[in-house]
Amino acid sequence: MSRHVVSFTVNGVPKRVELEARRTLADMLREDCGLTGTHLGCEHGVCGACTVLVDGEPVRSCLMFGVQAEGCAIRTIEGLAAPDGTLNVLQRAFRTHHGLQCGFCTPGFLMLATWLLERDERLDEAALRHAVSSNLCRCTGYQTILDAIRAAAQELDRWEDSAAGEARR
Ligand code: FES
Ligand code: FES
Repeated sequence: MSRHVVSFTVNGVPKRVELEARRTLADMLREDCGLTGTHLGCEHGVCGACTVLVDGEPVRSCLMFGVQAEGCAIRTIEGLAAPDGTLNVLQRAFRTHHGLQCGFCTPGFLMLATWLLERDERLDEAALRHAVSSNLCRCTGYQTILDAIRAAAQELDRWEDSAAGEARR
């Protein structure tokens, strides 16, 4: 089995790993980088549990090969909190609004929401609901996840009130 060397950064740290071409990005992160915060659910692109950011865009890491990460900047759940463990605004909002129960889906939702809150556009209810529909959660019923992301967007002044948005159009 041929092996390949891949160089990339993960959460700002340069990495160089040698792996088989068939290894997924999710397995590379979990097994070669020791970053087990990225979860694997369906392993075929449906659930979104494995979502990470690659060059700023959300990616299902079970659908990307590790070798495709050459030269990429990857961000995972491990990179959200401060080095001293202080949770960021989004993580705190998930805790405050009970945006998780078993927590299996949570890394994927947090990375998806990180992307939502870092985009150029402000976030509104329609965009929030559309984005969140890409990931599956078996426990929460989604309302608390929506509440958490909405609250984080408001705290970061990234929230577009729908009524205000309509008035501006
Ligand atoms: S584990 Fe990747 S989408 Fe479900
Ligand atoms: S909190 Fe259990 S799957 Fe979402």
